Amino acid sequence: MNSFKALLIEENEGKVGHRFVDMGIDDLDAGEVVIRVAYSSINYKDALAATGAGKIIRRFPCVGGIDLSGTVVSSADARFKAGDPVIATSFDIGVAHHGGYAEYARVPADWVVPLPAGLSLHEAMALGTAGFTAALGVVRMEENGLTPDKGPVIVTGATGGVGSLAVDMLAQRGYRVVALTGKESEADYLRNLGAAEVMLRQSLDLSKIRPLDRARWAGAVDNLGGDVLAWIASTMEQGGTIASIGLAASMSLKTTVAPFILRGVSLLGIDSGYIGEPYRSGVWQRLATDLRPPHLGQMSRAIPFADLPATFDEYIGGRAKGRVVVDIAGG
Ligand SMILES: NC(=O)c1ccc[n+]([C@@H]2O[C@H](COP(=O)([O-])OP(=O)(O)OC[C@H]3O[C@@H](n4cnc5c(N)ncnc54)[C@H](OP(=O)(O)O)[C@@H]3O)[C@@H](O)[C@H]2O)c1
Repeated sequence: MNSFKALLIEENEGKVGHRFVDMGIDDLDAGEVVIRVAYSSINYKDALAATGAGKIIRRFPCVGGIDLSGTVVSSADARFKAGDPVIATSFDIGVAHHGGYAEYARVPADWVVPLPAGLSLHEAMALGTAGFTAALGVVRMEENGLTPDKGPVIVTGATGGVGSLAVDMLAQRGYRVVALTGKESEADYLRNLGAAEVMLRQSLDLSKIRPLDRARWAGAVDNLGGDVLAWIASTMEQGGTIASIGLAASMSLKTTVAPFILRGVSLLGIDSGYIGEPYRSGVWQRLATDLRPPHLGQMSRAIPFADLPATFDEYIGGRAKGRVVVDIAGG
């Protein structure tokens, strides 16, 4: 291949922007594995990175896209060979190492995971970092003792990528899922994914959060941070578990130690970015088996590579719903 298309994120005079460029293999960053990219996806972080709405990129210029799936073209590492279907997400991909918004990628072998049997390259990106993170949250909460009989689990940012996938996975495992959303119009969507109850974020009074309030949740998957997370902490049941995943509403957290020392609540930090092997492949295996979200097809849509730039604003505005797969090889 002589040249190929990539979406490059650049900084000019302090302003971050992105544009399609032609690149060659020699322009890619160092790594043992060259991959012909089939699909990528859009996560909140990708939109923040590409638009400059968040300080995500650590090395300019950088091809965006924290997720990719595709086929190995060549490998200098014995774990992979030409023709292998693979997934590469997280680490420095798309933030400090040219990422998945390009027809080819070259990455260190340690960042590559074999595509688990039972998942297609397309499904792997319908899941992407969002699915990996939702699954990691479920795995970590269950390791901490959460079971369906302990009580309901609340999922915030429920219509987003991580949120939709967490609702689907938890409901399928028998949990009573309460979906917290800002989108009144999406209640049916969330019920269809398995939410037993849909709560509107606007119905919460976050102006007076007490140290401890009526205990309601055995588990929580939080994508928002800020006051919503503080309210969740104050309403957890004895021994409850919170998976702190996101900051879509705020980076800050103003709470008290009361939930932790008087109700034994656990606040688990979930970082999909740098969790290594064997945990990483193990979570992907479970995404292909017992954690596979039954409504993955219904909650995801594919867009052509060329349409990618026009899609970022939905994410920045909090209007994103479900998952978007980017058809890189299809153009
Ligand atoms: N820790 C990790 O390793 C990790 C990995 C992946 C993602 N994340 C984080 O998890 C969060 C969710 O990621 P995602 O990819 O699922 O995002 P997404 O698809 O854009 O979904 C975010 C959802 O959060 C809700 N939301 C509420 N206030 C918002 C605001 N001010 N701006 C944007 N969204 C708002 C919206 O859902 P409702 O209207 O239904 O409330 C929105 O659809 C993000 O903060 C992301 O950075 C962390």
